[in-house]
Order: sequence, then C-alpha cells, then structure tokens
Amino acid sequence: MANVVVVGAQFGDEGKAKVTDLLAKNADVVVRYQGGCNAGHTVVVDGNTYKFQLIPSGILYKGTVCILGPGMVIDPKQFLEELKNLKARGLDASGLRMSAGAHVTMPYHLAIDSAEETSRGEFKIGTTKRGIGPTYADKCARTGIRVEDLLDRKVLKAKLDWLVPNKNVVLERLYNLPPFKASEILEEYSEYAKQLAQYVCDTSAIIFQSVQERKNILFEGAQGTLLDLDHGSYPYVTSSSPSAGGACTGAGIGPTIIDRVIGVSKAYMTRVGEGPFPTEQTGEAGEKLRQTGKAWAEVGVVTGRPRRCGWFDCVLARYAVRVNGLDCLAITKLDVLDEFDEIKVCVAYRNLETGETHNELPSIGSSFSKMEAIYKSFPGWKKSTSSCRSSKELPKEAQNYLNFLADDLNCPIAIVSVGPKRDQTIIIEDPIHGPKRVLTRAG
Ligand code: IMP
Repeated sequence: MANVVVVGAQFGDEGKAKVTDLLAKNADVVVRYQGGCNAGHTVVVDGNTYKFQLIPSGILYKGTVCILGPGMVIDPKQFLEELKNLKARGLDASGLRMSAGAHVTMPYHLAIDSAEETSRGEFKIGTTKRGIGPTYADKCARTGIRVEDLLDRKVLKAKLDWLVPNKNVVLERLYNLPPFKASEILEEYSEYAKQLAQYVCDTSAIIFQSVQERKNILFEGAQGTLLDLDHGSYPYVTSSSPSAGGACTGAGIGPTIIDRVIGVSKAYMTRVGEGPFPTEQTGEAGEKLRQTGKAWAEVGVVTGRPRRCGWFDCVLARYAVRVNGLDCLAITKLDVLDEFDEIKVCVAYRNLETGETHNELPSIGSSFSKMEAIYKSFPGWKKSTSSCRSSKELPKEAQNYLNFLADDLNCPIAIVSVGPKRDQTIIIEDPIHGPKRVLTRAG
C-alpha cells in the first residue's frame, strides 16, 4: 500500500468508514487523528453492522495496530463502553493504542457543551453534545487534562482541585447548573485510568517506527472538510482539523511521509447540525434522498438527528480538492440516486444580495449563507446500480454523471460505492497506486 490519508470532502457522514474499511485490509496501522465520540462510523461486514465512535474501524482486521492519536479528544467512559461492546462481539483489541497526549473529555465538558448550545439561541451550532468543543477549548487554553494525567493520580488530583472550582463558577453562575465535586471525578476517572493504562503509549513513536519498517499506514479522518475548524464553514464547524493537514499534527508525523490523500464524498450531500448548505432540499427531493434505502437511512449515527439532504455541490467539492490536496475521490451512495428522474449538481453560486456569480467558495465566511446554488441538470438512470461491480456495468447516465464530477473537480474518481456492503464497491482506478492529480513538480 502506502501511507494514505482518508478525509471527508463534505460536511461529514460521507461514508468514510466504508472506504477506510476497504483500504484497512492492506494497512498495518490505522490512525484516527482528530475528533472524538462526535464521530459515528458504520461498517457492514457479512451482514453484521459495526458502529465506531472513537476506535478506528481497522480493528475489524485482526492484527492491525489501531491508534487513537494525540489530536483526538477521548471520553474514557465512552471508549471503555465501545471497547466492551466490540470485545463482546469477538473482536481482537490487542492492537489498540492510545496516545498519552490525547485530551480527555471530562464531565464538566459535557455539561458546558449542552449549556452553551442552549445559551446560543439562534446562533446555536447543533453540536453533538459530546463535549468536543469545550475539551478542545481547554486544550488550547492549556487547562486540559491529557490521558497521561489520568494515569498519575497525584497530577490528576492537583489538576482537578484547581480546575473543577473554576468550571463550577461557570456552571453555577452562568448556567445555573449544579457543581461537580473534584473528589468524585477523581475516583471515577482513576478507575477508568486503570482500565485504559494498558493501551496508553507514545503513538507517534509507533507510527515513525512503522514508517521506517515500510509498513502501510492509513490515517482515518472523522467529520469532514467543511466542518474543519480552520477551513470549514466557521462557526458551524467542529473544533478539530478533519482536513488532510490535520493528519500531521493530529498523529504526530511530518507531511513527507504521506503518499496519498483520498477524499470521500457522497454522490449527493448531507449535513447534520446548523450552518449554511446552499444545495439543501427541504421539499420532496430532500425527503426522497433521506428516505431512500433503509440501510442508508439518513440520520446522524451519534445523535439520531435527521440529516439535512441536498444535491452535490461542485463549488464545495473543488474547495475540498484544494484544501486537502486530494489525489483522488471515492464517491459513495451512488445507489441512493437510482430512482430520481432528474439529478442536479451545483456548479456555481449566485449571491442573493448582489446577484454576483461565484465559482469559488466566498472568502468571507458570513457571505456563504447568502449563496444560492446554480444547478446543472442530469437525467436520472432509473435503474438499480447496487449490483454493479465495474464502471462499465453502470447505466450510461450514471457514468456521465460521474465523469462530469471528475472533470469539473479535476480529480479522478477511484472508487464508487453502490451499497453498504463491502462488495458493493466499484474500483475505477487503484486508489493507492493509480493516477493521481499532479499538483507540483520538483525541479
Ligand atoms: P461538535 O463536533 O459536537 O462540536 O459539533 C459541531 C458541528 O459538527 C455540528 O454541526 C455537528 O452536527 C457536526 N458534527 C460533528 N461530528 C460530526 C460527524 O461525525 N458527522 C457529521 N456532523 C458532525
């Protein structure tokens, strides 16, 4: 294989888990580099559905080293619950490793996430309420608790004795919520620490060693490019860096070790939570996208909220190609479009206030919400694609649709997924060794 980063090229929920599962088969090491249990990755193997939130889905392959990187935020209670469930289903967790430097989501983070959301009123983000933003905020403020702190009771006690009273001021005075007791958190989290300890290490060293041994490493992004803290639709973003650059800081590697970046997009588009979505369909088409295919029911894996649905947006996809330096794309859920008479693709935006046309995402984030989609229409294929296993087997209209996307985005489509099962996949180009976009030339 090679060292490959898989990123979501839309607003998250692109079907990355299926693509990472496909690639993880040949990976020696799979690394999650950001986010926490706000992610929900679903993989279907032999009729069994596995849902992952913190643990890399590479755990499905026995012997694969699965790393929770330092860029992640970890809720130990959720981690242990997920681990227990996976072990109960017979999965081997011996390859699991957790970075000592990852930050820990504490109970006050969960309380603050919910309280902040409520207090934002019309400015709410629609977070998953998993404490993600407050945990990263503490990391940046240098008041976070890292996994290594959990393992040292003295350090944990000292930090909690200092931090909990501060958090209680916010909880009690700002939000009128009950305070936490540092001593209770200390006992609860020391207990988690005992169970976590066996997995904790310097994961960056393992990755570097694997690079030197020419092993294959897969970096698994959670969420998506448009939810990236720096490059997404701020403030309607998550608090980490899902885009390809995040793999370096979040895993503790240099960019020189990355061979490929693969972007994953649905054949249409969805968004969970608040924020602009120019191609959103609130009428019949949106409902049809949401309802189509039981296995693909469009609800958030973590929160169960219905996903907002809309047409593929080339403006955003071109942006994702740019900020991630994508080499190729995996297009998922093509089968969801099987029954549409007409399929639309957004090719540019019109500013509703000025009437100006934009081929690129506007540089001023606030004007994004004023953008109306300009569409190109494609005839639907009105045939099932779910049993197609090569691009030639796809209806002509579906081939035209995909060819248009690849041309418009100037990015080859390597993989097309036509259903949730592992074998419902069309490999157009080898995603690892096939043609890639040549962005730069040395010399
Ligand atoms: P947070 O990550 O819980 O702070 O939520 C921030 C925004 O990101 C909200 O709009 C969430 O709905 C969205 N979000 C977070 N994680 C995911 C995900 O895994 N898939 C899709 N949306 C997500």
